Amino acid sequence: MLKFITETVDFLKEKGFENPEVGIILGTGLGQLINEVDIIKEVSYNHIPNFPTATVEFHKGKLIFGELAGKKVVVMQGRFHLYEGYTLQDVTYPVRIMEKLGIHTLLVSNAAGAINLNFKKGELMLIEDHINLQGSSPLAFKGVELLGERFTDMSAPYNDTINSTFKSIAKTNNITLHEGVYVSVVGPQLETRAEYRMLKIIGADAVGMSTVPEIIVANHLNLKVAAVSVLTDECDPDNLEPVNIEEIIAMAAKAEPDMVTLFKELIKTL
Ligand code: HPA
Repeated sequence: MLKFITETVDFLKEKGFENPEVGIILGTGLGQLINEVDIIKEVSYNHIPNFPTATVEFHKGKLIFGELAGKKVVVMQGRFHLYEGYTLQDVTYPVRIMEKLGIHTLLVSNAAGAINLNFKKGELMLIEDHINLQGSSPLAFKGVELLGERFTDMSAPYNDTINSTFKSIAKTNNITLHEGVYVSVVGPQLETRAEYRMLKIIGADAVGMSTVPEIIVANHLNLKVAAVSVLTDECDPDNLEPVNIEEIIAMAAKAEPDMVTLFKELIKTL
């Protein structure tokens, strides 16, 4: 993997991706943040050597280098999911690339269902811890020890200082920001009522199909990490409505201005 990483990083440096400080993964509900970035360079994923889609013509994701709130940032517009058929190593490859380009901090967003019924759709949740239910680890491969500590510590995967700053920004801007545990599932099917009951019992506040692999690899690389979920639906097993993807997207869009404020203000403080 090291050889592939070096090749990808050399390509991006040549393209002008020089010394980014912060990496951002734009999930559902944060796409608009890109409008705040002074873009210096952008490259389609399928033009980046060794990226998971390097041979796929139709993937519309882009890696963007630019300036946001006075910081050099590298932004993933579009992420890879396990449910699309990628491996966990594929899904997390861009995190390894951003780290080698020089980032010290990784910020992640996603859309999730609210398991904690005190949380309402359209609200935001700061991820304070997670549960990995994707059935494997992005660190489970031969040679991982050449890239970092195999037995990566996960006693505090999310950065306390960044989380405190997020909370004070939310307060100042009158944004509801819950805190909770995010559980990652494979998807792409939504959960059954019995699965929602189980997820609540094991301690989850929100459920989604991303983020945890990237967070694990960011910890493997000793990056500072924080993540925020936009809650798009309420997962009440006793009153469960059929999934409505349009409503999920609408809820993510509704929360987007608050997400953008949180991230922009946070980056100013880094
Ligand atoms: N389950 C899993 N992923 C999700 C959900 C959900 O209810 N809502 C948004 N992403």
